[in-house]
Amino acid sequence: MTPEGLARAFFTLIAAFLTLAPAAAGAADIAAGKHLARSYCAQCHVVVDQGKSHRARVAGAPPDFSLIARDPGTNVEKLNAFLRFPHGQMNNVLLTRKEIDNLADYIESLR
Ligand code: HEC
Repeated sequence: MTPEGLARAFFTLIAAFLTLAPAAAGAADIAAGKHLARSYCAQCHVVVDQGKSHRARVAGAPPDFSLIARDPGTNVEKLNAFLRFPHGQMNNVLLTRKEIDNLADYIESLR
């Protein structure tokens, strides 16, 4: 097998694993996460909604959520850990665990 073939097989395996992951997100969680993303994150991140992108307004803009989602290094656990603390000068936004879960599910749904 070529190295590319091997890499492809590897990612297919990961994708299959993620699909089978027990903590599969419900549609309600994803919708709630999207709502949160629009209220709390869209002033910095591009939050794409059915092909329309809510443009980031910050110079040196942070990554688009769909790019974060497609990064093979991203998963729900990492997003959960990352979102527990403020970042990128996110002022005064303290997310509850449930909100963090919903946001992570939403971002993952953009894959
Ligand atoms: C004030 C601007 C700002 C806000 C608001 C903001 N972010 Fe960010 N975000 C950034 C910047 C800048 C980065 C890149 C630098 C960093 O990682 O700190 C980033 C990076 C990230 C990353 C990591 C990307 C990666 O793979 O390295 C995630 C995930 C993320 N943001 C999610 C969110 C979520 C979810 C919200 C809403 C709850 C949010 N951000 C709100 C500015 C912001």
